[in-house]
Amino acid sequence: MAELVLDRKSQVKQGKLHVLPDGARAASKKGVKNFQVYRWSPDDDQNPHLDTYEINLDDCGPMVLDALIHIKNDKDQTLTFRRSCREGICGSCAMNIDGVNTLACIKAIDDVHGDVKIYPLPHMPVVKDLVPDLKMAYAQLESIEPWLKTDSAAPTRERLQSHEDQQKIDMPSACILCFCCQTSCPSYWWNSEKYLGPAILLQAYRWLADSRDEATGERLDYLEDPFKLYRCHTIMNCTKTCPKNLNPAWAIGEIKKMIVARKH
Ligand code: SF4
Ligand code: SF4
Ligand code: FES
Repeated sequence: MAELVLDRKSQVKQGKLHVLPDGARAASKKGVKNFQVYRWSPDDDQNPHLDTYEINLDDCGPMVLDALIHIKNDKDQTLTFRRSCREGICGSCAMNIDGVNTLACIKAIDDVHGDVKIYPLPHMPVVKDLVPDLKMAYAQLESIEPWLKTDSAAPTRERLQSHEDQQKIDMPSACILCFCCQTSCPSYWWNSEKYLGPAILLQAYRWLADSRDEATGERLDYLEDPFKLYRCHTIMNCTKTCPKNLNPAWAIGEIKKMIVARKH
């Protein structure tokens, strides 16, 4: 039987323990929590490791991102992560917290029992610490040409749409491209170079469902492929994990139905 061994350099080791000063624990009103944070740098030859930070919850806001910002500002400026809006809109603080892909800015510290374990989004190359390399996902997004495509002559004003047609693109348009779903999908883990993944397929659906777009046939031709679309096996991890409560698995099903419908 084949024996699979993790490369020595991939093994996650125990890192540094950053303790609170004497007396801080006893003086804390909200309590103290340990944050175990994945660290890896391309600039040294060390294995990835989990650093542990004791955090006095009096010193930071209620969300996991608040604790990370507190660590970076006051304890360890080398910690690297992405964030921007701090309100679940930009998608840049996506990471794996307590075993679930989510947005650090809307994940309450109180919702995690015990130590808070924080890793980068899984199954993507790591740039540094909690920052995944999204180059391939963005190239896949570009491949579906996520913009309005038309052949008809441009109207003198906007291309109009009924309220009902607009509602059809409400859900997919709310996607913030955080890639929590993409990196929770087992099919994407094993075939990420060929399978487009739930985030990209939701975007593909957004343009297929747009009543103003005139490239439906061309878009379906591109997607009708054993890998790009049909690697989805309706495992539903994507929909379960989406922090915006969107439903990429449903959208993938709709694309499959459109492909069947055009054959009849
Ligand atoms: S439903 Fe499809 S896209 Fe979603 S997790 Fe499952 S295989 Fe991946
Ligand atoms: S569908 Fe949800 S989880 Fe996936 S990229 Fe969009 S917002 Fe993020
Ligand atoms: S910082 Fe923008 S979604 Fe979290």
